[in-house]
Amino acid sequence: MLAEKKNVRGMFARIAPFYDALNHILSFSIDRLWRKRTVRRILEAVETPRCVLDVCAGTGDLTLLFSERLRDSGALVVGLDFTHPMLEIARRKTARKKYKTQPIWLEGDALCLPFADSMFDVSTMAFGLRNLTDPQTGLREMARVTHPGGVVAVLEFHLPRHGVLRWGYYFYLHGILPVLGNVVSGSKAYRYLSRSIAEFASPEGVSEWMREAGLREVQRENIFGRAVVLHWGRVL
Ligand SMILES: C[S@@+](CC[C@H](N)C(=O)[O-])C[C@H]1O[C@@H](n2cnc3c(N)ncnc32)[C@H](O)[C@@H]1O
Repeated sequence: MLAEKKNVRGMFARIAPFYDALNHILSFSIDRLWRKRTVRRILEAVETPRCVLDVCAGTGDLTLLFSERLRDSGALVVGLDFTHPMLEIARRKTARKKYKTQPIWLEGDALCLPFADSMFDVSTMAFGLRNLTDPQTGLREMARVTHPGGVVAVLEFHLPRHGVLRWGYYFYLHGILPVLGNVVSGSKAYRYLSRSIAEFASPEGVSEWMREAGLREVQRENIFGRAVVLHWGRVL
């Protein structure tokens, strides 16, 4: 299911004020652990990155974790998103925390990243890929701006493959998530978000896209069963 870019941006602009609270409620706050594990894994693969890009940064949680972890290293951390109200919240969080390594927040399009080739050691994206109108172009762009030897990592939701888990998750996506989302945010956006998970590519499909984007050593790690998967590969 590919939505129009301006619809996606409009939808995230509307739910921005509720986004963090709903994320934590709907995942029982486990989403914080998923992002922490993602950062840990990436920093095991690239020990001291000098430049990190977080694409589809939203309200900045993953970007800010990198800033925290790299605070004494002088690394440059950039969070990019095309929805102004999401980045406004990210900026407010930064101001509150007084990070030593202040991230740079940029408004921009993941499908046409405003960077030269090979600028970053690491490019990441958390829960953004399935929202892109053209996910394959998004992956190619991340590979383009990451230099050889660097890592491209994507954290994303998928529908579990088998029986009870699949149906349980399906019920959660279609029965619980849109209703709770609607009650808290007053928006139908969570209906779209549920569908975007149910209709998104399989983990194997995303691995294939990563290879097609020129990435090598493509790997997957199940972070929460097969429902949340960390995909990553290296630029050669
Ligand atoms: C589900 S949120 C994920 C936010 C954050 N990474 C997180 O972990 O919570 C998806 C984000 O992707 C952004 N997005 C979608 N399409 C985009 C595009 N073409 N360029 C930049 N950002 C985009 C939306 O604005 C939204 O903030």
